[in-house]
Amino acid sequence: MRSVLITGANRGIGLALARQYATEGARVFACCRDPGGADKLRDLIASSGCRLHIVKLDVADEASIASLKAVLDDQPIDILINNAGLSGLSADRIDAAGYITTMRVNALAPMLIAQTFRENLTKSTEKKLVAITSIMGSTSTAGGGKYAYRASKAALNNGMRGLSRDWARDGILVALLNPGWVQTEMVTGQTAYISAEECARGLIDRINELSPATSGILQDYRGVRIRW
Ligand SMILES: NC(=O)c1ccc[n+]([C@@H]2O[C@H](COP(=O)([O-])OP(=O)(O)OC[C@H]3O[C@@H](n4cnc5c(N)ncnc54)[C@H](OP(=O)(O)O)[C@@H]3O)[C@@H](O)[C@H]2O)c1
Repeated sequence: MRSVLITGANRGIGLALARQYATEGARVFACCRDPGGADKLRDLIASSGCRLHIVKLDVADEASIASLKAVLDDQPIDILINNAGLSGLSADRIDAAGYITTMRVNALAPMLIAQTFRENLTKSTEKKLVAITSIMGSTSTAGGGKYAYRASKAALNNGMRGLSRDWARDGILVALLNPGWVQTEMVTGQTAYISAEECARGLIDRINELSPATSGILQDYRGVRIRW
């Protein structure tokens, strides 16, 4: 059975990914900071035939990452999806603490999680490492504002691109996927054009297609290439 680990799975895009993978018959490790409050994930346990497991993970906390590793031990993970993210402050003011938190969650955590679960990926059949990034991390198309968010996603892209090269010798494939403009809490009050379910369908299709030829490239949920 295919095993999928998803961070930030209690709402938004992560929840839609968890729901679709569980419905398709995968074993899903749905990670969230507060399992006690993850009502929507709990509803999925029964409907997925208990293949979905809710596990605690605060991606900003190295001890929490280590605890999850202790729980999973060396079980194979076919698809590891770094989805958890923060939008950062929208104001033009650059706030040091907020900037560092955004970098920690969006850029550093996916790299630490990849490193921690590298062996689990290597032991799997599919060996797919996924990062949910943003077009706002594209330096060549960058507008203004959201400085911490843009910088964090650019750093994420660069780090994951590096892993796609260095870990290719282990057969690990890396997907860098922009989900589009999606109706979630992150974009409250703005005009997002697709639902989280439609987005997740596209992301899963791209992950299914992932191959050595597409590993390490930046593309959106429809498979459209994005400039760095
Ligand atoms: N929505 C869009 O249009 C859009 C566009 C481009 C990129 N993205 C990216 O897509 C991903 C998912 O975003 P979304 O739209 O689904 O946003 P969302 O509804 O705000 O969900 C964000 C998720 O990340 C989790 N999270 C935040 N900090 C965390 C931490 N320290 N540890 C563990 N989990 C943490 C949240 O958990 P809590 O409930 O505990 O806070 C939540 O589950 C993000 O990486 C985002 O940057 C979204």
